[in-house]
Amino acid sequence: MNPRHFTSLLDLSSEEFRRIINRAIALKNNRDADFQPLKGQVLAMIFEKSSTRTRISFEAGMAHFGGSALFLSPRDTQLGRGEPLQDSAKVISSMVDCIMLRTDKHETVTTFAQHSRVPVINGLTDQQHPCQLLADMQTYFEHRGDIKGKTVTWIGDGNNMCHSYIHAAMLLDFNLNLACPAGYYPQQEFVDAAGERVKFFNTASAAAKGSDLCVTDVWASMGQEEEQKQREIAFKDYQINAGIMNNAHNDALFMHCLPAHRGEEVTAEVIDGPQSVVFAEAENRLHAQKALLEFLLCNK
Ligand code: CP
Ligand code: NVA
Repeated sequence: MNPRHFTSLLDLSSEEFRRIINRAIALKNNRDADFQPLKGQVLAMIFEKSSTRTRISFEAGMAHFGGSALFLSPRDTQLGRGEPLQDSAKVISSMVDCIMLRTDKHETVTTFAQHSRVPVINGLTDQQHPCQLLADMQTYFEHRGDIKGKTVTWIGDGNNMCHSYIHAAMLLDFNLNLACPAGYYPQQEFVDAAGERVKFFNTASAAAKGSDLCVTDVWASMGQEEEQKQREIAFKDYQINAGIMNNAHNDALFMHCLPAHRGEEVTAEVIDGPQSVVFAEAENRLHAQKALLEFLLCNK
């Protein structure tokens, strides 16, 4: 039987997404050291890009569940010397129980999944960051209940995080307001798939009006460091600051996947202020991914 993969949020049904969120909350609230459903199992983690949260949360999550995680980078495996992805996927998946990949090209993750006999998890590509959305949605549910029918505002780059927010809007049925500078819109295929759930606004303040959750991300993602200066100019009116938060509902939350650049995409006042839940959001990477691993590996 083909394994279940998690290359995109759209690999889940709406019901499965909600089930993982609720399971993550339960795992967080009732930590039981004797519960080791992945005893003896191994997760291979292939990182072609840097990471703090993703690496630590997967490694700690596997340890909590009685399993272990291997950190692999192209520098010290044959992947970096051009061994074909298909061969690598076949070999690695013959020795471990699950594979997590963080890489540039989304096709690397989908190719791996096609040739792997164990579940493959997308730990971030240039196109999507679905694990982050599990944690973000868990955080929203914990603070405010179900997000169905609410309004979320994305301000900034139409990047991997933005694409996964579009998928979350489709699955969990919320409205997504987008304010992105010209030339930095999300890919059209994502927008088209979401239909009326996604609306574009010309300014950050218009997009934030009546919002329940305001979200942003860095102006230059990993691999775009050389565009930093040009992006600072393009994105200067796309910062989440107190004025923008004032346009949202009084009880609106602020989220950011981190790492953040205070003074660029968000002011210190907002990210370190009372509406910000960024550290709960970061911690929830651990709980949400434990729920994901259990879902994929224990058929739950
Ligand atoms: N948010 C996130 O994925 O963080 P890392 O890059 O530290 O893993
Ligand atoms: N958009 C960012 C997210 C980092 C977690 C990046 O791809 O670098």
